[in-house]
Amino acid sequence: MDGPRVLVCDHIHDDGVNILREAGYIVDLRTSITASELVEAVGDFDAIVVRSRTKVTEQVLEAGKRLKAVARAGVGLDNIDLKAVKRLGIIVVNSPEAPSNAVAELVLGLMLSLARRIPEADDSMKKGKWIKKQLTGIELKGKTLGIIGFGRIGYQLAKKAGALEMRVLTARRARGEEAGVDAVDLNELLRSSDFVTVHVPLLPQTKHMIGTEEISAMKDGAYLINVARGGVIDEEALRKALVSGKLAGAALDVYEEEPPQDLSLTGLQNVVSLPHIGAATVEAQRANSTVVAEKLIKILG
Ligand code: MLT
Repeated sequence: MDGPRVLVCDHIHDDGVNILREAGYIVDLRTSITASELVEAVGDFDAIVVRSRTKVTEQVLEAGKRLKAVARAGVGLDNIDLKAVKRLGIIVVNSPEAPSNAVAELVLGLMLSLARRIPEADDSMKKGKWIKKQLTGIELKGKTLGIIGFGRIGYQLAKKAGALEMRVLTARRARGEEAGVDAVDLNELLRSSDFVTVHVPLLPQTKHMIGTEEISAMKDGAYLINVARGGVIDEEALRKALVSGKLAGAALDVYEEEPPQDLSLTGLQNVVSLPHIGAATVEAQRANSTVVAEKLIKILG
């Protein structure tokens, strides 16, 4: 008898595909499948594997007549209709344990980029300009980092920031002490931090959780970093704070619309922006694919 059939809808590392095939699964790789092609094809599969490109809508789930599982190779589940999944009794697995180090390291890179104005310096050199006098930065040592959302990524980041001799605050108590972190309330975190970084999922409760009010509570000249999800920070409030000089800078890897069509935020000189590459390391992608492959095998046998 044939093994379970899995449709891989977005590119994932080969190691995960090999684990499934070695377990006798029939794996179909259609990594540029369109939304309508997916609705047409999904009926033949026991499971689908997606990253963030593929939207697993109610229509897709309903068309998946034999679908038992949706695997998200990565953390965020905001591209999956979780209500429909629950209603239809489909199991969702993801791999939040896989990319935490990659994302935490990226935040360090972004803090250093902002503090030492590395992208601006590099850009000036590419343009043949020697603007040494204009590029005085600040040091991370002795500065305060406020981490909003203290899950796996926040924890990894706290340990790394501690090694850079930063003071670390979190608005959540869990595991704070273990990572040498002071747990404070959100207001105090905003008021006291030189760098604020958000690490929460996008949910109705977290949508625009950092808006005009929260930004005005931040220190003048502080920096805001978002590698979580675009909607967590109100982009228009952030843009205004960067233009007015309330905030010295921001670093963004995620946007309310991806890719962003309106460049009025990413085009600002004091913004470092990246195309959602938080988990884009060889190590994290390998782990994403192997973790979800193993979880699928546990479910489908
Ligand atoms: C994730 O949720 O795993 C990351 O944001 C990476 C991604 O969505 O591609």
